Amino acid sequence: MPRNTKAAGAKKRSASSGQKTEETMLKELFIEELRDIYWAEKHLTKALPKMKKAATSEELANAFEEHLAVTEEQVVRVEKVFEMLDMTARAKKCEAMEGLVKEAQQIIEDLPKGSAVIDAGLIIAGQKVEHYEIAAYGSLVQLAKTMGENEIADLLQLTLDEEKETDQLLTELAVSGINVSAENEPEE
Ligand SMILES: [Fe+2]
Ligand SMILES: [Fe+2]
Repeated sequence: MPRNTKAAGAKKRSASSGQKTEETMLKELFIEELRDIYWAEKHLTKALPKMKKAATSEELANAFEEHLAVTEEQVVRVEKVFEMLDMTARAKKCEAMEGLVKEAQQIIEDLPKGSAVIDAGLIIAGQKVEHYEIAAYGSLVQLAKTMGENEIADLLQLTLDEEKETDQLLTELAVSGINVSAENEPEE
């Protein structure tokens, strides 16, 4: 019975801080994940302007600019969730988002400025970011529901929907020509 073994192990580890219920541990997990995405969103508010600046097509630049405004609201939304839990908002470094942003920076450094190729690269980097966020918020919404925190779940669902919309928009931009013009670019 692997489930029981796991539960026993978890109990043992928390012995020093007293017996923790599964409910408490679930809430702690939720808060850890919330701190992770809080850091990630704030980090993105610094990265998106650079991605916008590097974009060749106006459409892509606009998409990054719009998503910056949305991301700033999402930061506030996460703060609201902390508030609803009677907690001070605290960020915990998200290694994954740091890595994804580094990849975007690498694309900006490596690919030719003003080309359709850099746009194709930025779309890939952007979609990797969105997919991370979709996974994070999808999990947070589910955890909040499990905890019976339906108001928090509804709030985080709004962000989840925005991330999905952005991912969809980036797919459309890739399909609607940015990638096509990258293919047609003359080779140097
Ligand atoms: Fe976000
Ligand atoms: Fe996003």
